Amino acid sequence: MIVLGFESSCDETGVALVCTEKGLLAHAIHSQVDMHQEYGGVVPELASRDHIRRTLPLTNQVLAQAGLSADDVDVVAYTAGPGLIGALLVGASFACSFAWARGLPAVPVHHLEGHLLSPLLASPAPSFPFVALLVSGGHTQLMQVDAVGKYTLLGETLDDAAGEAFDKTAKLLGLGYPGGPALSALAQQGNASAVSLPRPMLHSKNLDFSFSGLKTAVLTQVRKAEDAGGSLDEQLRADLAAATEAAIVDVLAAKARRALQQTGLKRLVVAGGVGANRLLRERLDQAMGALGGRVYFPPLSLCTDNGAMIAFAAAMRIQAGLETLDASAASFTVHPRWNLEDVTVA
Ligand code: KG4
Ligand code: ZN
Repeated sequence: MIVLGFESSCDETGVALVCTEKGLLAHAIHSQVDMHQEYGGVVPELASRDHIRRTLPLTNQVLAQAGLSADDVDVVAYTAGPGLIGALLVGASFACSFAWARGLPAVPVHHLEGHLLSPLLASPAPSFPFVALLVSGGHTQLMQVDAVGKYTLLGETLDDAAGEAFDKTAKLLGLGYPGGPALSALAQQGNASAVSLPRPMLHSKNLDFSFSGLKTAVLTQVRKAEDAGGSLDEQLRADLAAATEAAIVDVLAAKARRALQQTGLKRLVVAGGVGANRLLRERLDQAMGALGGRVYFPPLSLCTDNGAMIAFAAAMRIQAGLETLDASAASFTVHPRWNLEDVTVA
């Protein structure tokens, strides 16, 4: 069975083809980063309009890459939420139009379920059950995953997401959008111990996170430096970047470790854009190794938003018997806010 998947929840248009027998056949992404950069963040209306421009050319591109035609597609999948409503509507209406015109079923997919199952596209793939650390621009959650569609929330951020903490701090340091990769690159020239930053909720007994205090602490340091000498010097900027990255990674690694201890599970799966962070990958590898466990990441190219994870999650849900595959449905809905635990099961 061949699944054509669409991702359009935020600032990346992703289209992919996944075969239930052969795995990923082709995928293509268009990132809107350059377009939003001058505004310092995502402008929702511009995002929607760009998804409209990109979806059809990307669809033709992946079909050509896979050597297939539209007639070879068996099922269409699309991100139905959470995300920006206009952006979601573009992907959902394109996907459903494509499906209905060909009498095919259209499967709505939860964006985080896509991220969460994407490490199963790597080799070796983790087996169930596992703990998933979902770290993206909008979410920071620890989930127990017992099977496809069986997700239990263990803990989550009470305020900013880890990616948001990277992005907001990067902005304070005068770095572009998105801030995560830029802050991480600047951190390489800095000394994390030159500046002391808080590790919010590091010692709380639960598995929740809080990152909003971090940007305030960085802002205080920036103001202090500005009051003393006018502007931030290059070394202090790099030190603040390194200290921020170290603080976020310390908390994520400690809570992930605690989640494995509390659940008694040995496998940790990391997904979402922040999963591309090099320091986080190193620290989690060490921490899980020390516990006799193992950490699994999606392929680096599939850490941030992409269509492959959406097509793949739909394929896994179909194989697990969780989708009814009704080709006669003639309506769809999107969910800008949507809890993963509420993902409906056929
Ligand atoms: O999963 P994603 O592509 O989109 C959402 O669903 O939010 O994640 C985007 C987030 C952004 O906050 C970005 O700054 C962060 O992932 N990110 C990183 C890195 N690459 C992307 N954060 C830290 N280090 C990175 N290398
Ligand atoms: Zn995402």
